[in-house]
Formats: sequence, C-alpha cells, structure tokens
Amino acid sequence: MDRADVVIVGAGAAGLFCAGVAGQRGLSVLLIDHAEKVAEKIRISGGGRCNFTNRDAGPANFLSENPAFCRSALARYTPARFVALVQRHRIAWHEKHKGQLFCDDSSESIIQMLLRECEAGGVRRWQPCRVEGVRQTAAGGFELDTARGPVRTRQLVVATGGLSIPKIGASDWGHRLARQFGHRIVEPRPGLVPLTFAAADWAPFAELAGLALPVRVATGDKPARGEFLEDLLFTHRGLSGPAVLQISSHWRPGQMLELDLLPGIDLAAALREAKQRSRKQLGNELLTWLPARLAEKVCAPLGELARRTLPEQRDATLIGLADRLQRWQLLPSGTEGYRKAEVTLGGVDTRELSSQTMESRRVPGLHFVGEVVDVTGWLGGYNFQWAWASAQACALGL
Ligand code: FDA
Repeated sequence: MDRADVVIVGAGAAGLFCAGVAGQRGLSVLLIDHAEKVAEKIRISGGGRCNFTNRDAGPANFLSENPAFCRSALARYTPARFVALVQRHRIAWHEKHKGQLFCDDSSESIIQMLLRECEAGGVRRWQPCRVEGVRQTAAGGFELDTARGPVRTRQLVVATGGLSIPKIGASDWGHRLARQFGHRIVEPRPGLVPLTFAAADWAPFAELAGLALPVRVATGDKPARGEFLEDLLFTHRGLSGPAVLQISSHWRPGQMLELDLLPGIDLAAALREAKQRSRKQLGNELLTWLPARLAEKVCAPLGELARRTLPEQRDATLIGLADRLQRWQLLPSGTEGYRKAEVTLGGVDTRELSSQTMESRRVPGLHFVGEVVDVTGWLGGYNFQWAWASAQACALGL
C-alpha cells in the first residue's frame, strides 16, 4: 500500500499551495486531482491574467455564516506575502483598480510558480486520478481507494473547491466527504454570477445588451445589506459586469435590486437647475447624463413629454424621472447558475473547523481549505487570497 504523511485531494489554487508549503516543511505529500489539466481555474482566471490577490484583502471582503473565521488565516498570510513569493519567482505584475493585482503576461506563470514550489517540496502528484472512497483507519489515519490503487495517510486535506464551472472539473466531492464525516454544509449557491430576469420583464431592455456604465447597486437590509459602486453591463438576458457580480453574492431570490444609474449626482436638483437656464428638450438634456441608447429607453415611456423643453416641464415630472433613474427597483428572477458563476457561496460550516489549522473538530487529521469552505470573497482577487491563506494555515499545522 502507498503511504504519505499528507494526502491532498484537489490540485487547484489551495491544494497546490498547501502541498508546496507542507512538502518544504519535510512532510511527504501526495496531491491527487481527477481533472486532466492542473489548476484550470487559475488558468482561466482574471481573463487569463489571474487576479492573484487584492492588496487590501481583509475579513470585511468575505461572506460566511461565521464571518470571524477567516480573520486568523488572513492576518497570518497577507497579500504582501504572496506578492513577495510572486516577485521571488520573477513574475511581472501590475495593479488594476481597487487593489487588484494581475500578472502582466499570463495566469500560466502562477501555475508554474506553484508547481515549482511543489517540486521544491518533493510533492508527488497523481493526475488525472479519481478517489473512489475514503475511510478512517483504526490507527487514526485515512485509507483512500483511488484509480491508481489504495493509499494510506495520517492527514487528509480536502481542497476540491466549489461547484462553479463543472466542465473544467468542479465537483461536490468535498461536500459529500464532509457529510460522510458528519460535517454540516452551509447550503451552496452560485456567487459572483450574472443575474437574469423574466423574459417579458426584460424584453424592453434586451436591446441595451453590451451597454456599460458605472452605477451604485444595493440589495437586502442590514446587516446582510450589500452595496457596491462598480460598472454595470446590460446583457440579452439580464445584468452583469462587476457591479452585478458583486451584488449577486448578497442577493437572495425574491429580493429587489436598487440601482442608481448616476451615483454621486443629485439628478432632480440638476434638472431643476437646468430648467432655469436652458431651453433644451428634456430628451436632449438627458444625453448629458446618460449614454444615448439608455437615454432613449428612459424617454420612451414619456412620449411627447420628452420632446418638450425644460422650462415646459413640471418639477414633479423631473423629480419622478430622477427617482426612476436613481432608485430603479428591479426584481431578478434568478442567476446564470454554476455554469457562469465565479465562485460557490456556502460549503463546509466553519464552526466545525479550527480557524488556526483548518482541521475538523469532529475528525482529527481531516482538513478543508479554499473554496470548499464556507468563506467566499468579493470579486477582485479575494478568493485566491483565501485559497493561499487557508492553505498556508493548514500546511503549517500539519
Ligand atoms: P479550485 O477550483 O482552484 O481547485 C479545486 C481542484 O479540485 C480542481 O483542480 C478540481 O479538478 C479538483 N477536484 C474537484 N473535484 C475533485 C474530485 N472529486 N477528485 C479529485 N479532484 C477534484 N478568484 C480570484 O481571486 N481572482 C480571479 O481573477 C478569479 N477569476 C476567476 C475566473 C473564473 C472564470 C472562475 C470560475 C473563478 C475565478 N476566481 C478568481 C475564483 C477562484 O478561481 C477560486 O476561488 C479558486 O480557484 C478556489 O481555489 P480552490 O483551490 O479552493 O479550488
């Protein structure tokens, strides 16, 4: 029977990182993944350039039923430490907006970096290889049945990620294993995902597909309220773009979205002020404030009124119009689902894990790291930072 000090299932961001650190601590590590290619999610991330961390990542950027859980790991493995590793591997990077750090060239350089770290730790990798069953041994370890034969280990790390993008290897294996050992799963649902609307509701806006503009978007009530100032993108079936991906993680079915299409502007005041000095038609005035296609769409229900000049408009009309544009209430019918979601919310309940080592409080030697755990980051490099930080916490505790 094959043996290893540590078996890690899942060779994605968290699994590779954990393997490298554990291997370099002198442990014998076997990494197993069922996919043909290593770390496909890193490869496709950040539009192929991997937004590998966020300079400002902190606990406030994560969603979880147990928000304090991520604090310790994030504090012990900071974005600056990952940047130092990237620099040691001579990978060129740059900062985009809001602290998001990307590779200059390609995500492939992050994958190669992680593989070199694994090599330095003497990590063995079985890939592709299915894990057919896991059981605890009497001696207090685990025995795994795999497509390459049985393997015995003292420590098992589950790094199989979330359910998003099944066609590149995502599976619920980690959730099923957690349940097998008595762990509770916080109901998984797609996050960082475009939102859709009932076809009839969306028909008037479908022709705006491709249009993008900065907005403020909000949903829910305190303390679960989410609010973001980001770009919105109209699509054929609904809304996307960073603003909507961010808010989708806070949105629950049946909740309204509130959109302010002119954040930072008091449109009602601006229109009433314009009425004092300009003889423009209302429709033309709106072109000052909104992209033309959107202005036309907004004016359509006003009919003849939009062609009247500003001095001819009643204040109530201007205030009503501003209200619709700055407090637009929409009811999404759903999301684009795991096919398009960047992450999976929910996962292994963190109340049953050690925040210091990611080890199960139920089953000694069993650990969960990365996205399989109920810790989900915002859009912008936060999810990889959680993968690195949770993996490091785990590897140092093995
Ligand atoms: P990850 O998904 O990386 O790895 C899980 C591994 O487990 C996979 O290799 C899989 O094959 C394997 N596995 C699954 N089931 C298995 C089984 N039954 N047996 C064996 N192996 C199994 N985040 C970010 O911070 N910045 C970004 O730029 C992006 N961009 C981005 C784009 C897109 C399109 C997506 C879908 C996601 C992102 N993300 C992101 C999110 C980020 O990719 C994600 O949070 C991390 O990869 C999670 O790391 P894990 O190691 O936990 O899972």
